[in-house]
Formats: sequence, C-alpha cells, structure tokens
Amino acid sequence: MNTDDPHPSRTHIRLHALQTTLSHVAHTHSGSSYFVFDEAALSHAADLFERYLPGVIPFYAVKSNDRHEILSHLAARGWSFDVASAYEVERVHALGVSGSRMILANPFKDNNSLESLMRYQVAMTTADSPEELVKLQRTFGGLPAAAQPAVLIRISLPAEGVQTDLGVKFGCRPEQAVPLLQQCVELGLNPGGIAFHVGTQSWNLGNYERAMQAAIDALNTFNTESGFNLRLIDIGGGFPWGTSDGSGPLRVEALLAGVGHLCQSAQAQGFTLQAEPGRVICGGAFSLLTTVIGKATRNGQTWYYLSDGVYGGYNGVMYDHQPYLFLPLDQDLEHRDQSPDWAMTVVCGPTCDGVDIMSRAAWLPTNLEAGDRVFTPDIGAYSLVAATEFNGFARSPIISADHAPLPLLEAALHIPVTSAEEIPQAVSLS
Ligand SMILES: Cc1ncc(COP(=O)(O)O)c(C=O)c1O
Repeated sequence: MNTDDPHPSRTHIRLHALQTTLSHVAHTHSGSSYFVFDEAALSHAADLFERYLPGVIPFYAVKSNDRHEILSHLAARGWSFDVASAYEVERVHALGVSGSRMILANPFKDNNSLESLMRYQVAMTTADSPEELVKLQRTFGGLPAAAQPAVLIRISLPAEGVQTDLGVKFGCRPEQAVPLLQQCVELGLNPGGIAFHVGTQSWNLGNYERAMQAAIDALNTFNTESGFNLRLIDIGGGFPWGTSDGSGPLRVEALLAGVGHLCQSAQAQGFTLQAEPGRVICGGAFSLLTTVIGKATRNGQTWYYLSDGVYGGYNGVMYDHQPYLFLPLDQDLEHRDQSPDWAMTVVCGPTCDGVDIMSRAAWLPTNLEAGDRVFTPDIGAYSLVAATEFNGFARSPIISADHAPLPLLEAALHIPVTSAEEIPQAVSLS
C-alpha cells in the first residue's frame, strides 16, 4: 500500500495494465516463478531518457541488468555501454559493439580489466586515486594518446536522499581532481574529464546540481592551469524509478527534466555530457511472477511463502536495499488501499534461511492460498544479475510478454504529469 503516491490514478492504471499483461502470460506459461520481460517498457524508458536529456550520450550501465534482451535492444538503438569488468566488455563486444562505445567505469581495475581495456581499445575509464593512475601507467604510459583510454577522474560529494551512497566507496574530493588530472599528464596518460555518480535512486536534483558545478569548476581550473581543453563530464547514473509504489516511470519525469536542464546549461558552456543510466532503463522492463507455496498465521499476521526469494530474484532486498511491491495476480487492485480483506502480511522466500524474508509489511489480501500467484512490478534492476540457486532453487527464467503493449498501459505512460491526478475520460478501467 502506498499513501504518499502523488499520482494514484496513473499508478492504478499502470498496475491494472501490468496485471492484465501478466495474466495473459500466466495463462500460456507454466512454471512457478518467472521474470516477464516487456520490450515496450524498455523502449519507453530509453525514449524518456533521450527526450529529457537531449545530446547527453547514454552509456547503459550493464551491471544493472546484463540480459541479452536489454543489451541487444540498446546496442541496436546505437547506445554506448558502461562496463565494470573484462566479462562485461566481452559481453558487449560480442554484440558487435566496439570499444569506442564503452567506458570501463570501475575506478579499480583488476588485471583482466586492464587487459580488456587494451585488447578491445575501450575508449574511457575512470580513476579516483594516485595509486590507480600509477597502475594505468604500467599498462599504457608512453603509448600515443589515441592508443590509450581517456581517464576520467571520479569525484564524489555528500549525497542526500539516495538509496545507496556510492561515495562511501568511490570518488575523490572535488579539490583533488585537478592534481589527479595533472598527475595523468605527468605519467604520460590521456586525461579525459570528470565523472561522478550521485548514488542510486536519487530523487534529489540537488545531488546532480552540486556534482555538476564541482565538475565544471575542476575542468575550468585544470584547463586554465595546464593549457589543455578538457570538456567531458560523465554524470553517471542514479536516476530513480518508482519501484516501491508501482509508479514506475510516472514520477521520474520531473527529475529527468531537472537533470536535462542542468546538462543543457553545461552544454551551453561548451561541455560534452555523457551519462551511465542503469535502473531507469531496465527497472520497469521486468516483472517477477511467483506462486504462493505455503501460508501460515503467526502472532495474528499472515505469512506467505513464495516460490522465489531473497537468494533468487528478490536479492535486491539485500544488495540493492530495495523495498518491492507485492500484488495478487487474480484479484481486483482498484480498492486495495481501503479493502478490509487486505492486511500487512509477511512475504518470504522458499529457502530454509531466516534472512530469506522480502517484506514484513506487504499489503496483500489475506485469502491467498498455496497455488495463487503474486507479482512484483519494476524488478528489472539489480535483480537477475545477482540471483543465486541457494538451497537448490533454480533461478527464475525470463519469458517475454509477446503481445503488443496494452492500450491501457500506453495510455497511463503518456498522461502528462500535470494532469496526473485525473484518469482521462477516454481510459476505462473495466
Ligand atoms: C559507475 C556506475 N555507473 C552507473 C551505475 C548505474 O547506476 P543507476 O542504476 O543508479 O543508474 C552504477 C551503479 O552502481 C555505477 O557504479
């Protein structure tokens, strides 16, 4: 249940459409759990990104979801890729994407990653420490600039209102960026620009504003002092997705528009902008459909045991700190907030581990029984990539929603934000 959602009508339309889509799939596919891939949702998310951040070169963050369905779609669309390891370089290269369309945006590279930078002539990489620059010099120092990856110095600033603050692990303070760029020059490396990542699920535009200003200031200072003319700023990822309330893309547009304005202002000052979106592209492209395998009442509360859990498709509960939404496949969602038949239930996975509990406050009907279906929308990011087969439970496979996108879903996605509270007359929920 979500009481803070500013767009309940649009969210309801969207969830109703998703439920209908998944019901179609469930009628034609057996199996207790599977991810349902919706290419139209993927395409819509990429459209949104391009519309709100024109001229910002997108490097899709492969780490968020590396499944072929996503990578091949974005490769065909001409997108570039943010890769984290030699394996990801090879995955993307196998699609026919050259290293010139990749950034290895891991500030700490193992030997395999260094080799893949060289072998596939990956265009860019990041670093945030003098030690990493020395490592890069051992591989690339002295080669002509054209034979080296451009090195972007990753900065970090305090993040506010993010789900995971990546600055706890990566990024130098902004005032250290200029000395690191100077060190690149001294070591015979190829200085490229500034990168940052404001942290995941950043609904706070201020994080982008502060990081962008710091990046511009660092480049202006370095250019003045060195005679170089570096213009590249990589604004990373962090773009949010309405995962916990079922709003998916519906609340995201305002943040994207704000970041887009920031980028346009930097572009007007002569900077080239690129980004590494992950979650905002793949988050809505997958739903997870599971089956109730057991039920219990403990201390007056209903517990549901589902066929997939924290060790499988729901691993984002642990690694991504993600509160997910759980909805019944076969019951009316329209009055769920007020219904006396719904309650806060506990939802857990099939393994024998006590940590395998997805939520202690999942708003669900209390009359579900073993065999009934539950679905979770917006589980495309940081889920499939980290699932295990702990206790012998196989990973949930992927099934494509092979019908044309439903008119209702299309309608919900295209209602302008300004009229968000209203359900247009043309859209019927029946
Ligand atoms: C370097 C880098 N770029 C991009 C991303 C993607 O971030 P998001 O999924 O928040 O857009 C991540 C996520 O961890 C990252 O570490």
